Amino acid sequence: MNISIIGTGYVGLVTGTCLAELGNHVCCLDIDQEKIAGLNRGLIPFHEPGLSQLVERNRLAGRLFFTTDIKTSVDHGDIQFIAVGTPSAENGSADMQYVLAAARSIGRYMIRHKIIIDKSTVPVGTAEKVRSIIQSELSQRDLQIPFSVVSNPEFLKEGAAIEDFMHPDRIVIGCDDTEAGKHARSTLRQLYAPFNRNHERTFWTDVRSAEFIKYASNAMLATRISFMNELANLAERIGVDIEAVRHGIGSDPRIGKSFLYAGCGYGGSCFPKDIQALRHASHESGQELLVLAAVEAANRIQKRVIGEKVVSRFGDDLSGCHFAVWGLAFKPNTDDMREAPSRVLLLELIERGATVAVYDPVAMKEAHRVITEDCAEIPGAINRIRFATDPVDVLKDADALIVVTEWKVFLSPDFDQLKREMKTPIIFDGRNLYDPTLLIKAGFEYYGIGRTAVNKIPSTAQNHISRARITNQHSYQSIN
Ligand SMILES: NC(=O)c1ccc[n+]([C@@H]2O[C@H](COP(=O)([O-])OP(=O)(O)OC[C@H]3O[C@@H](n4cnc5c(N)ncnc54)[C@H](O)[C@@H]3O)[C@@H](O)[C@H]2O)c1
Repeated sequence: MNISIIGTGYVGLVTGTCLAELGNHVCCLDIDQEKIAGLNRGLIPFHEPGLSQLVERNRLAGRLFFTTDIKTSVDHGDIQFIAVGTPSAENGSADMQYVLAAARSIGRYMIRHKIIIDKSTVPVGTAEKVRSIIQSELSQRDLQIPFSVVSNPEFLKEGAAIEDFMHPDRIVIGCDDTEAGKHARSTLRQLYAPFNRNHERTFWTDVRSAEFIKYASNAMLATRISFMNELANLAERIGVDIEAVRHGIGSDPRIGKSFLYAGCGYGGSCFPKDIQALRHASHESGQELLVLAAVEAANRIQKRVIGEKVVSRFGDDLSGCHFAVWGLAFKPNTDDMREAPSRVLLLELIERGATVAVYDPVAMKEAHRVITEDCAEIPGAINRIRFATDPVDVLKDADALIVVTEWKVFLSPDFDQLKREMKTPIIFDGRNLYDPTLLIKAGFEYYGIGRTAVNKIPSTAQNHISRARITNQHSYQSIN
């Protein structure tokens, strides 16, 4: 089939490339000229394992091409995917300007039947808006061309995007019941047939429900994370190990084991903005989503938890302290720094006068860009951050190591080496990667998330604590 993708970001590029890999002819459009010029030279604009080879193979085979020319793109595809961004507007709603601009372009240039697929995460009712914009553009040109608008939200995860796209656990498609809708349904059945060979994965529903399913999925996942984080914070106060709790409750098949890890908060390009957008849409319709208000509030608090532990340990004034940070991206296997918890932590450390060395296996370039922006208002801040070259180099003379992102390379470090490189053997583990009992036995001071039951501060630590001029007595007690 001939397919066009409007918006060549994470979702658009992965969707286009995977569909080309299955034998379709795909045109990827973007308004970002630099991005398209790079892709035409084989440069992938973000880190996604395995994507580069797949793009190259399909580009060279002539099944995948990139353009900034909207007319070429609209002409090419019988199916037009809209995969542009839907960031948060100032009031928290989804900013629909890019989706609506894409719809306008389609309406302005189409001269034959098209199936338009909303793949972006969009509020309920967007397909109707897209349909009416296209219709109005056609009317202005005195044309009557049949078309249909379908909702097909995307569930891929950055870092595992190709695997997720090629082996989806479900394909949600919302189609209406009109003649055009029925035609779209049979075309999409064909398009997605390769994914359904082993068993049927497609879930057919109406357009509005499909639009809602995506928000509901992200809201459920974020809720699980915030719920576990709140329990973890309580666990610390009352002498319970959250890891034991995770295993204990996850074994119940009604609960399941996924997405129960306590940590230093969720970030990324989806959860924060989608929760906000869903809350905003709900508010507009006259209903408050109370659970999601709490999920957001809990996450805001959680992103500060590691910073608070550091302050409790070293004092309010961190000048003279030097910290090593492992992991900057909002999660492993991506260089995406959007809403990453590391950004909140770094600002806190820098504002309190610390110096920091940071390392991430792939996000260093993007991290440098966003951290420079984040710290722009703090005089001399960027000079107090060293962007290290490897996970050992970053440790030199550190008063403590802070683990923020659970990259595989951080899972089994050589703890003896850590001790040799660092000034003091203290670890703040924002992802509960390590066994506190083993680390304490090995001479480390260890602070996890919700792990107090096995994390008694060794007596030697008391010396550091008094030297560190602890002024926040209450929060110090809260981590003991
Ligand atoms: N990133 C994810 O993991 C993920 C997963 C599932 C769903 N989604 C959703 O998919 C959508 C896209 O997300 P993303 O992460 O790929 O965004 P992105 O920011 O990586 O990419 C969006 C691209 O669209 C381009 N664009 C904007 N307006 C355009 C226009 N009029 N014509 C052509 N190109 C245009 C931008 O230049 C950009 O390259 C969002 O709604 C997002 O919520 C994202």
